[in-house]
Amino acid sequence: DWNMEDVMEEEIKTIKALVGPEDHVICALSGGVDSTVAATLVHKAIGNRLHCIFVDNGLLRYKERVRVMETFETDLHLPVTCVDATEQFLRNLKGIVDPETKRKIIGREFILIFDMFAQDLEHKLGKRPNFLVQGTLYPDIIESCPPPGSGRTHSHTIKSHHNVGGLPKDMKLKLIEPLKLLFKDEVRELGKILNVPQGFLKRHPFPGPGLAVRVLGDVTEGNALEILRQVDEIFIQSIKDAGLYDSIWQAFAVFLPIKSVGVQGDKRTHSHVVALRAVTSQDGMTADWYNFEHKFLDDVARKICNSVRGVNRVVQDITSKPPSTIEWE
Ligand code: XMP
Repeated sequence: DWNMEDVMEEEIKTIKALVGPEDHVICALSGGVDSTVAATLVHKAIGNRLHCIFVDNGLLRYKERVRVMETFETDLHLPVTCVDATEQFLRNLKGIVDPETKRKIIGREFILIFDMFAQDLEHKLGKRPNFLVQGTLYPDIIESCPPPGSGRTHSHTIKSHHNVGGLPKDMKLKLIEPLKLLFKDEVRELGKILNVPQGFLKRHPFPGPGLAVRVLGDVTEGNALEILRQVDEIFIQSIKDAGLYDSIWQAFAVFLPIKSVGVQGDKRTHSHVVALRAVTSQDGMTADWYNFEHKFLDDVARKICNSVRGVNRVVQDITSKPPSTIEWE
């Protein structure tokens, strides 16, 4: 049990000692708690020699770009460049159905954009940025590469993700990972001391590949992403309205690439099925499915079918992790 004030002071000291007065630091913000807290901490240590980028990959949630940019600019005063790369990502994901291939493509395109950002900065500053901030947490490290004797020997082969080592290796950037010994709840505590808004800190985790791993199959097929955004927003808003958001680790909707028959108004329909998933967890490594009340689920399902065109069936995921993972892909 660490005192977060001390952790913050220590980290700021370490960052100041590491980053020389002529050095520049870059950071990719995902819009999540981890990268935001990491960047805010580094910003506090070195000011505007930090340069952040936020990429809209077209796989974000409803109104997400506008919402997170507002937090970065208005609440945190972080220096952030926002890049809309929707077209580039979706063009490269066209026809791709394999989950790991999706992740690889998204990672690759991200690196290309990030590389360009670093080059632009080099022109502007007259020198190369030489440090990179990453919001790596302790569980990311143990799930990607379990320490010997931890009893976790095979988990790193399950998914090629978790941001560890996900950025260019040939850029010769030294890593700053100020959160690498912390768990999620500790990062939230640290964020609070750094004046990151409570509402932002309490946001559920969101995977780097975004909605690409929540639209099963080809993400560019039809208007899957748009449907998913609307369904997800209704689900999340209902959870918030019911006062349940903070009791849940993650809640989201999944777009299934199948159609089922329904009856809406006096017509038979042949429309999409969406799944709702909500879990409780300590750190994402194991999870239990969350048991909503009957009335809540009934209201949400009705609302979704009544207001989202192209959806006539809502199902709920009632598996825990293990045997399932939290995400569907
Ligand atoms: P799973 O689905 O493996 O997820 O049970 C555990 C936690 O990790 C998140 N997740 C990801 N995060 N890139 C990320 O940055 C990914 O590719 C990725 N896949 C899953 C997931 O949302 C959950 O919090």
